[in-house]
Amino acid sequence: MEFDQPGDSLPFHDADEASTDAGAPVLSRGARIRHLQRVPLFTGFDEPELRRVAALARIVESPAGTVVTQIGEPGESFFIIIDGTVAVRTPVGAGGEMHPGDFFGEMSLLDGEPRSATVVATTDLRLLVVDRSHFWRLLEETPDLVGRILTILSRRVRQLEQTLQTILRGSNAT
Ligand code: CMP
Repeated sequence: MEFDQPGDSLPFHDADEASTDAGAPVLSRGARIRHLQRVPLFTGFDEPELRRVAALARIVESPAGTVVTQIGEPGESFFIIIDGTVAVRTPVGAGGEMHPGDFFGEMSLLDGEPRSATVVATTDLRLLVVDRSHFWRLLEETPDLVGRILTILSRRVRQLEQTLQTILRGSNAT
């Protein structure tokens, strides 16, 4: 089951975030830019760059317990955490937690394969969501973001290699 935009808003809104009748937040341009300015992945981005990101993404909120990505399911979106925490469960076990500024969901958009892990909200979440149709354009229009994403992906590969090495050493020792 892929993530759906929830109808309910959660209790962390700024004063200029009006609500629709259904309670879903309608963010002013200023409020959206302010949320993006708080995301470490966008540190150093100037206002035109943040505006480009804001134009290609939406901000959604989701309660604790939401399954944001489900392993084996098709993936349609890329996520950057603005507020909240998620837990990652990979086929080889727990993949740790992610916090504001962390991103996930890029793998299915990059290679077209099903979700590689299940990602669950462990707190209420505010996410920046980039849909498949805008993902490549976002990367083209924000080269700094590409560099940062690649750096973090490289770190994740190293961590996995270290985990694998630890597991193999343990099995060789028995
Ligand atoms: P995707 O496969 O699209 O959906 C699940 C996401 O979980 C995946 O993209 C990555 O962003 C993330 N993910 C998968 N494996 C790991 C891991 N070992 N550590 C951290 N994040 C992961």
